[in-house]
Formats: sequence, structure tokens, C-alpha cells
Amino acid sequence: KQNLPTYTVEEVSQHTEQSTGIWVTYKEGVYDVTNFVNEHPGGEQILIAAGSSVEPFWMLYAVHKNPHVYELLESFRIGNL
Ligand code: HEM
Repeated sequence: KQNLPTYTVEEVSQHTEQSTGIWVTYKEGVYDVTNFVNEHPGGEQILIAAGSSVEPFWMLYAVHKNPHVYELLESFRIGNL
């Protein structure tokens, strides 16, 4: 996405808790899900991906393979990898 900052994997990996913000990646996108964690239908399981990619976990939980989930994810976008 244009006009959004670029982050490194290293920077993303430092955002794993409420105090730093909770970031995840999906493909080239970086997402701040800090405020979504408590609303996640899958509960705290989302935290397993904190600071890294959700892709391996979404492969296991196909419930995410749905347009409405990708739309929600894009609403949290803060940058690019
Ligand atoms: C369900 C979003 C990460 C596990 C869901 C649903 C959404 C969602 C919207 C409901 C889907 C539906 O019912 O149509 C997200 C987002 C994530 C994320 C935006 C990351 C940014 C994860 C991770 C896990 C996970 C990393 C790891 C295991 C689950 C499970 C459910 C679920 C188990 C099913 C809950 C149930 O129906 O009982 N997620 N998720 N999610 N998520 Fe996630």
C-alpha cells in the first residue's frame, strides 16, 4: 500500500504486548491488532502470532480464509514489510 511506512521484520518482532502495541504481518502487510485482541473470536490464541506472521496459523485455522476476515485485517493496516 502506498503512503504507508515500511517496517522491518526486526521492528515488527518488538511489538508483542499491550505496552508496545501488538503487531502482526500477513504477506507484505503490517497490522496493529492491539485493540482487536480482546475482540478476537478465537480469543487469546491470536497472541501466538504477536510480532510475527499470522500465515502459518491461518493455514491451520481455515476459518480465516474468508473475505470478511481479510477486510477486517486491512482495517488494521499500518504499513508494509
Ligand atoms: C476466528 C480474526 C489471528 C485462531 C476468527 C474470526 C476472525 C478472526 C474475524 C471469526 C471468523 C468467522 O467466524 O467467520 C483474526 C485476525 C487475526 C487472527 C484479524 C490476526 C490479525 C489468529 C491466530 C490464531 C487464531 C494467530 C491462532 C491460533 C482463531 C480461532 C478461531 C478464530 C481458533 C475460531 C474461533 C471460534 O469460532 O470458536 N479470527 N484472527 N486467529 N481465530 Fe482468528
